[in-house]
Amino acid sequence: MTQPTLHLGQTLRFEGDPFADGLDAAKHETRGAILVEDGIIHAVGPAADLRAAYPWAPTVDHGDGLIVAGFVDAHAHYPQTGIIASWGKRLIDWLNSYTFPEEMRFGDADYAAEIAERYLDFLLTNGTTSVCSFCTIHPESVDALFTAARARGMRIAAGKTCMDRNAPDGLRDTPKSAYDDSARLLNKWHGKARASYVITPRFSPTSTPEQLEALGALWTEHPDCLMQTHLSEQTDEIAWVKSLYPQARDYLDTYEAFGLLGERGLYGHAIHLEDREKAKLLEHGAALVHCPTSNTFIGSGLFDMGGLKSDGQIVGLATDTGGGSSFSMLRSMAAAYEIGQLRGTPLHAAQLIWLATSGSARALHQHNRIGNLGAGMEADFVVLDLASTPAIAQRSTRAQDIWEALFPTIMMGDDRAIASTYVAGKQMKPAAP
Ligand code: GUN
Ligand code: ZN
Repeated sequence: MTQPTLHLGQTLRFEGDPFADGLDAAKHETRGAILVEDGIIHAVGPAADLRAAYPWAPTVDHGDGLIVAGFVDAHAHYPQTGIIASWGKRLIDWLNSYTFPEEMRFGDADYAAEIAERYLDFLLTNGTTSVCSFCTIHPESVDALFTAARARGMRIAAGKTCMDRNAPDGLRDTPKSAYDDSARLLNKWHGKARASYVITPRFSPTSTPEQLEALGALWTEHPDCLMQTHLSEQTDEIAWVKSLYPQARDYLDTYEAFGLLGERGLYGHAIHLEDREKAKLLEHGAALVHCPTSNTFIGSGLFDMGGLKSDGQIVGLATDTGGGSSFSMLRSMAAAYEIGQLRGTPLHAAQLIWLATSGSARALHQHNRIGNLGAGMEADFVVLDLASTPAIAQRSTRAQDIWEALFPTIMMGDDRAIASTYVAGKQMKPAAP
């Protein structure tokens, strides 16, 4: 047992989804507090009330800092850390030119460990406390990420990426080895400490129907696991999928036909959806993941956040590192705002911060544990400095309300805006002395 600690500052939490429930779903305290003990938040409220209720608790005063839940990145590729911001290609050429050669290196456990540690440290610097990541086809790459996450106490979801065609020699498995390796890794990591295993076919073009079928069977055997993949990111990719799966009604059908459409499914990108696909995703309660910096960087298209959310789709937000051009969920919120503007549906600051926390946690079925401040939630939180640079400060000091104060940090903030990051109540940034 550790001693309870009261963290004081501005606080922002959600009692609902601001897309569906409006701005009243957001609860802001100018002088708030959270009580943290043994990695769990035990109480949230006005600072004066909590100080009166827990007069013996030591305090950490974050001043004007805004305490919010740690960011949850719902789709990333940690092995692409070293090739982020590679110039000039669209999806398929980008995969072949930059991604596959780099992913080839992750059979080396030492290299995988080095990148996994570097990647998770970048996340903590940027205020991201949980991620759902693809690994590579190598089991070593999965062990490396879960091991590095365990050392940092982070709640992480990840899985071995499966590919048995249209990938170079050295980067292909088979239907059987994909099933066997995934099953072994699942049994080794799923539900251990804060790890969740995610069944991970990369996307239909790099799997044979036999491999998709094997992974669908694995998911049926482990229905509590998430399944992650890619869907309808670029138009040439969709045409390729149609040529590889001539019987399929559409891209989603290539997953649906093999038991890979379900409530715990996460479908990254989902930009160019047909009506049947939207209806099926909704019917199954599957989650779409918006990857805005990736969609602009690789030139994929403009995700229809306004339309999909008003239909009631479940949507998370993600960096998609390294197709995405940043490790930062602040940058991802800014890009989501810009894409919303281009579609004529600007997102409110409350919606953006909700997407990066509770929305992504909901997509990952972890919203009862992470992504919000509340009694019983795990104590993964960040403290935002809403005046982290002179340019941001001169704008936020004019703010009339919390949203005007927060929005400049969303649009212009970077890791300097993350004053502190806490994982399970433990301070990870600045690094503990
Ligand atoms: N589609 C299949 N693999 C990938 C990947 O690694 N990144 C992105 N952005 N799209 C993909
Ligand atoms: Zn991806």
